[in-house]
Amino acid sequence: ALALLGPQDLAGLRVVVSAGGTREPIDPVRFLGNRSSGRQGMALAAEAAERGADVELVAANVAADVLAEARHPRIRVRTVGTAAQLGDAMADAAASADVVIMAAAVADYRPAHASDQKLTKEGGPLDRIELVENADIVAGLAASRPQGQTIVAFAAETLLDAEERRERARRKRERKGVDLLAVNLADAEHGFEKSDNAIEIIGAEGAVVASAEGSKRQVARAIWDAVHKSRS
Ligand code: CTP
Ligand code: CA
Repeated sequence: ALALLGPQDLAGLRVVVSAGGTREPIDPVRFLGNRSSGRQGMALAAEAAERGADVELVAANVAADVLAEARHPRIRVRTVGTAAQLGDAMADAAASADVVIMAAAVADYRPAHASDQKLTKEGGPLDRIELVENADIVAGLAASRPQGQTIVAFAAETLLDAEERRERARRKRERKGVDLLAVNLADAEHGFEKSDNAIEIIGAEGAVVASAEGSKRQVARAIWDAVHKSRS
């Protein structure tokens, strides 16, 4: 049977997509994590591959059934656990990429000391965990990017007011030095652990260059359209 191909407008593009959420160990059985399922990253990787791109998918703690949503001959998967591992994998993969999309939810802090033994109550009560800040991965990539590389970051915000959300996203885009920043409302209906998402894409000078609402695949389509447009 003849495969029905959609537009191959990303053919020849080398892209890196990070997905999922990092886990920062507290002890061998506990971690500091977040609610990212990795589904938006899977949709971004699948959409890019179907449109002809060669994809490196860096997956942080994405469940096997979710990872299966991004099975494609042009998608290569690397799996990581912590923010430090994600940072290393991204630096390596991004060095030869045309586009980097940082969809993973990265822990802002990690425990200063991970115990190599399981913490027990017998070992003494635990009333605090000392934290240290993780490096900003996407800001680091943006600061040393190869010429012509497009970098997209995400921001999940809980601010209900759309204009306040946009303003925060504009500052974040500037601070990180990325080309596009996709901002989404993370509330009860949208974002983390949900099948639907709604985003606005902030571009140069803080302009809203696109918006999309619907399935994570529809959102992925809009993001790749915006990336394609910004590069042409
Ligand atoms: N990010 C990153 N490295 C980090 C933290 C975040 O690369 N250590 C990336 C995320 O993958 C995302 C973007 O930066 O693409 C924005 O993440 P967000 O958590 O919204 O930004 P922060 O700078 O951590 O700001 P906030 O205080 O709002 O959490
Ligand atoms: Ca953060």
